Amino acid sequence: MPFKQMTKKIGFIIFAMLCVFIGLYPVAYFILERTFGLLASKSNIVLNNVFWNIAFYVHISLGGLALLIGWLQFSKKLRNRNLKLHRTIGKVYMISVMFSGLASLYIAYYATGGLIAIFGFMCLGLIWLYTTSKGFLSIKKRDVSKHQKFMIYSYAACFAAVTLRIWLPILIAIYQEFIPAYRIVAWLCWMPNIVVAYFIVKRLDLK
Ligand code: HEM
Repeated sequence: MPFKQMTKKIGFIIFAMLCVFIGLYPVAYFILERTFGLLASKSNIVLNNVFWNIAFYVHISLGGLALLIGWLQFSKKLRNRNLKLHRTIGKVYMISVMFSGLASLYIAYYATGGLIAIFGFMCLGLIWLYTTSKGFLSIKKRDVSKHQKFMIYSYAACFAAVTLRIWLPILIAIYQEFIPAYRIVAWLCWMPNIVVAYFIVKRLDLK
């Protein structure tokens, strides 16, 4: 196998493994105590808020599902071999994003770190909802190129769940404090992803 092809394949395997690993991470919230992860930092008012709880569990379970299956859509082999499967996964991804994305806008209002974090997560949620619905509507109109373009942006937004968990420990190590690191990561988790998506779209010459 030529070197370029091999590095591309290895890159895709690493990308897929990260998506599966973080996609499964929300399971921990269902099997561990109610003091796990983010829940430990929330006030009793938030923890006893029924709407917040519904939105939180909808967000993490369907967000996890979207991340878990979304990467499969970028495999040309799978698309060419089984278009029906591509369509089924696509519909599950779209519905998951709609519910998880809407729920994210609600829980973002309660985000740790205040206004800076709230706006960072809200922008990400809106971008996720917008690009995913545009990607879906484009394929309904049989516009494959536009569909690909918007879905690349959609998954770049979804991938923020992975990049957040890479950036956060680095930022905590730099700032030696959680809150400033969290405020920055609410923006840093998605902005470079969108820039990378822009260059991928440009390289593929998608209109
Ligand atoms: C792409 C759009 C997304 C937005 C806008 C978003 C937004 C948020 C917000 C606002 C919180 C609560 C933060 C707080 O209260 O401080 C949160 C937590 C969480 N989200 Fe998302 N999220 C997105 C995607 C995802 C995806 C794809 C997953 C899949 C793994 C995910 C999994 C989680 C988990 C597990 C938590 C709990 C916090 C933790 O343990 O790290 N999110 N998200």
